[in-house]
Amino acid sequence: MLKLTRPHGIVVAIDGPSGAGKSTVARLLADRLSYIQIDTGAMYRAAAFLLAEGGIELSDLAAVAAFCGDLEISFELQDGKKLVIANNKNVTDLIRTPEMSLLTSRISALKPVRSALMKAQQRMGDQGGVVLEGRDIGTVVFPDAEVKFFLSASVEERARRRYEELLAKGEAVTLEETISDVAERDRQDTERAIAPLRQADDAVLIDSSLLGIEEVVHNMFSVCQMKLSERVSQQ
Ligand code: DC
Repeated sequence: MLKLTRPHGIVVAIDGPSGAGKSTVARLLADRLSYIQIDTGAMYRAAAFLLAEGGIELSDLAAVAAFCGDLEISFELQDGKKLVIANNKNVTDLIRTPEMSLLTSRISALKPVRSALMKAQQRMGDQGGVVLEGRDIGTVVFPDAEVKFFLSASVEERARRRYEELLAKGEAVTLEETISDVAERDRQDTERAIAPLRQADDAVLIDSSLLGIEEVVHNMFSVCQMKLSERVSQQ
């Protein structure tokens, strides 16, 4: 008899490098499952924004720990748009600038930041019924997640998508620069000492360079359904 420790459903972890399409597939999968989507990258971005706004010295780890211990980050839906609220401030658009991406990459390597956000993510997902996307969800935050995916794509393909997004925003970049930025973020994410980006041993690997979004979501949904029916038959 399986104990129902997660009354609202299973925990689905989607990890992978920047630009693999995690946010889009996590949102579509969460909608299909009627689960809550938790964008943990947005949480790191919100922490970076507030640390900068608060003028916290990043080398003062005690101050960073105290600040992060009091952080309150939540997601709210307003007119169909998902808002990121941090310490009662709407930071949704403020956290998506190139400066914030760089700062987030730095602060996400700090232990006090990771431990505060990990605890917050575990509280949010504890009851189940969630799709969490990030870098360390299946390895560190929810190593016991019922379903784990590692969504990847070649550096060239991820850079090409990012390049098209930047061009559409009117930014003057070259494809070569974008490839080298994506490769640099991969290096930072995979080489950091704490909770580096890594595929969990029991994660299902999906390469989004070879599949369309709908196909990726369809495959993920089938894996989740299988796990959910196993869960029902074990009760
Ligand atoms: O997914 P994203 O690009 O919004 O993530 C922003 C940064 O946060 C990125 O540098 C990696 C980091 N991050 C992390 O270290 N751990 C997570 N679980 C999610 C994001």
